[in-house]
Amino acid sequence: MKFDKSIKIAPSILSADFSNFGEECLAIENQGADLVHIDVMDGHFVPNITFGAETCKAIRPFINTIMDVHLMIAPVDSHLQNFVEAGADIISAHVEATPHIHRTMQAIRGFGVKAGVALNPGTPVESLENVLDLVDLVCVMTVNPGFGGQKFIYSQIEKIKKIKDLIGDRPIHIEIDGGINAETAPLVVNAGANILVAGSSVFRGGSVEKPEIYGKNIDLIRTSVSKKM
Ligand code: DX5
Ligand code: ZN
Repeated sequence: MKFDKSIKIAPSILSADFSNFGEECLAIENQGADLVHIDVMDGHFVPNITFGAETCKAIRPFINTIMDVHLMIAPVDSHLQNFVEAGADIISAHVEATPHIHRTMQAIRGFGVKAGVALNPGTPVESLENVLDLVDLVCVMTVNPGFGGQKFIYSQIEKIKKIKDLIGDRPIHIEIDGGINAETAPLVVNAGANILVAGSSVFRGGSVEKPEIYGKNIDLIRTSVSKKM
């Protein structure tokens, strides 16, 4: 992914039709998605189970932009290679999922894949301090992970600003994940974010038969940001 500050929309397939991931990925990309956000959940680190590396591998041929894999799993290190081989372009792991987040980020980078570090709403910014020079992306959870369609946690806006300051001029993307829509998107962009994950607000009302709804939903988010800039 080119490192630039342009706003990128990353629809999360957690809100897609689970029986038709391939066509759903093609549809959202044709309707303007910049990345495809893939929520991997193990039912242990988060209370929900979605799918694993095999599903990512099956989806990969249908993604022409960027496969942004969000690992909500613990432990994480032993699974990294499977997601790399599945074709992930970015792999984000949670600070809370391992006592060795520094080694996890080194390992992801070691595979030649972009490394993302993710923080739950209760995790302080300080937990990033010692890995900032190992990551390409910080994923700030603005919901408690596990499900789509939850309410945005407004207290995280201050945290985004702190992360922005901590990052300084390092080439690191700030990705926001959870409760992003036309109302919350401008708030997080003004706080310093440039990648917006959006599940329910993109997929709501659309389908592979009605992909133009996806396009409308994506444009709504995009214009909400440009209006407020
Ligand atoms: C939640 C996932 C998010 C979620 C976003 O655990 O990490 O990516 O799918 O869904 P919305 O946009 O509906 O909050
Ligand atoms: Zn996610």
